[in-house]
Amino acid sequence: MCGIVGYIGNKKASPILINGLLRLEYRGYDSAGIATIENDEIKVMKNKGRVNNLYELDGINDLVGTIGIAHTRWATHGKPSKENSHPHMDNSNSFAVVHNGIIENYNELKNMLIEKGYKFLSATDTEVIPNLIHYYFEQDKTDDDKKILRAVKSTCKDLKGSYAIEILSIYNKDKMIVVRKDSPLVIGKGNGENYLSSDIPAILSYTKDFYLLDDNEIVELSRDEVKFYNQDLKEIQKPIKSIEWGALSAEKDGYEDFMLKEIYEQPKAIRETVGAKLDNGSIEIEGLNLTKEYLQSLNKIYIVACGTAMHAGLVAKTTIEKLCKISVEVDIASEFRYREPLVDEKTLCIYISQSGETADTIAALKLAKSKGAKTLAISNVIGSSITREADYSIYTHAGPEIAVASTKAYTSQVVLLNILGIYFAEKLERVEKEIINNLKQDILNLPSQIEEILKDTNQVKNFAKKVYKEKDMFFLGRGTDYAVSLEGSLKLKEISYIHSESYASGELKHGPIALIENDVTVIATMTNPDLVEKSISNVQEVVTRGAKVFAITSEDIKNDGLSQVIKIPKTNPLISPVLSVIPMQLFSYYISKEKGLDVDKPRNLAKSVTVE
Ligand code: AGP
Ligand code: GLU
Repeated sequence: MCGIVGYIGNKKASPILINGLLRLEYRGYDSAGIATIENDEIKVMKNKGRVNNLYELDGINDLVGTIGIAHTRWATHGKPSKENSHPHMDNSNSFAVVHNGIIENYNELKNMLIEKGYKFLSATDTEVIPNLIHYYFEQDKTDDDKKILRAVKSTCKDLKGSYAIEILSIYNKDKMIVVRKDSPLVIGKGNGENYLSSDIPAILSYTKDFYLLDDNEIVELSRDEVKFYNQDLKEIQKPIKSIEWGALSAEKDGYEDFMLKEIYEQPKAIRETVGAKLDNGSIEIEGLNLTKEYLQSLNKIYIVACGTAMHAGLVAKTTIEKLCKISVEVDIASEFRYREPLVDEKTLCIYISQSGETADTIAALKLAKSKGAKTLAISNVIGSSITREADYSIYTHAGPEIAVASTKAYTSQVVLLNILGIYFAEKLERVEKEIINNLKQDILNLPSQIEEILKDTNQVKNFAKKVYKEKDMFFLGRGTDYAVSLEGSLKLKEISYIHSESYASGELKHGPIALIENDVTVIATMTNPDLVEKSISNVQEVVTRGAKVFAITSEDIKNDGLSQVIKIPKTNPLISPVLSVIPMQLFSYYISKEKGLDVDKPRNLAKSVTVE
């Protein structure tokens, strides 16, 4: 959660910081603040609400400091308010801190500091950090250029939980210190200046050269230098990573919202994710070399993730089971990590995370690793935390996804997971080659089929206009149509705030049908020719009870009492969610617009969930 930005150079820091925060706002947006150093003083300005509210503050444009830290908050401890927003200072106003994460033992630390005479002005867990740094700084009687670093090191030893922290100090006005543990932070290297951010896109317009921090590394930034230390303050060297994404990919590019832009980017995202993998012969995936013998030894595959990424995993379960004849279990990361899953060296554990920073998914990966399983991460962000933990990492190439509601990451994940299934299947040779070759061809056709769907979105838009005031909706489907319905339902909740549930069509009469009454909206997906007749019967059951049905189908069905039928191109049911999800994404988008909501930044949500 939350976005962090930092700058040290020769330019005025505040516009760079605020610009960076605006790009990171999707990570958290209940309050924001910045701190710079001017005339031997740390100047802090902060406000409740969106980043733009910073401009309402008197004097914000007069800040001339060329070093600064900044934060856009997603509150965990203490309500969103000016007092609780970051940066926080110690009692002597010598240290300013912004923090992403949670300090789990903050109460204990706070009491210890209160006993020593420290006072607290906020309800946050964060405020213990600047005060602890001050405490250790005062205790240290050696006056040398590592005194602040030592205070930070001692502070970190006391902290339990997750953090990415930036520190400014009056005792060294030309240096900034940062440290991370289980929360993301990257450093952008410039010429005579350096940048810091929670993620790469926020500072892509300033530099393409990045250092990726590892847990417990402490970094000291000056204008010309970036020095890295391990937790014992021994200097270490780190390589620079050059990032290929263009700065434009993190701009709206003429679209009204990032979500709409990202919906339209799906054909490109899929083309780039497929790359040359299906061009000739057996599939090769960069970063992956699993042998036939290893795959034959497996008795189970786990796919673990959160939210939309988990929904992509549900689609892949069908593919992998069908092509590889290995049982696949899909689990929510926050459940998996606390229920002693049965994992050993005969289990392959696949973790999906667009951001690569989701706390529960990373913890679930570490757990499987400790039990001897091989771990494979699928992420959209090169060098993200999860990819540095996993035994193998493979990437979707969807480009930066900024809207909180995931769209292009989902379709790219479904495609990559299917390619992964084929990669396993080609080694295992448990199904006929023809099945595999047909699926490969179907995957290659997906981008142009999405383009076809996106050519005319009026039917979806008009239906959204009819139903946007409703309070509840239902999604129905069988097989992969059920898996995609779960995703459609999540999208609707996230950005339109309409309550919705998704049910497997066959399960309807075991309870949920009691909820169907006159005029309720049901979104029914039917793309599998083998299941379509059964699904139509279920749809008729709700039509009979007065439901308005919005059907998404690739089959030639009779419009028997349906309110709207959206026809999508035919494809293999294993990958049909890549097509059927498009009308669902658009449906949620148009409802959200009709209600006048902030599509890209829905309430209470944040793009990157770096806390449990
Ligand atoms: C998607 O629309 C959601 N905002 C959310 O469910 C998301 O997919 C989930 O938090 C996982 O994120 P990750 O892929 O970055 O790990
Ligand atoms: N736990 C801190 C707070 O509530 C930081 C939250 C965040 O990551 O934005 O202020």
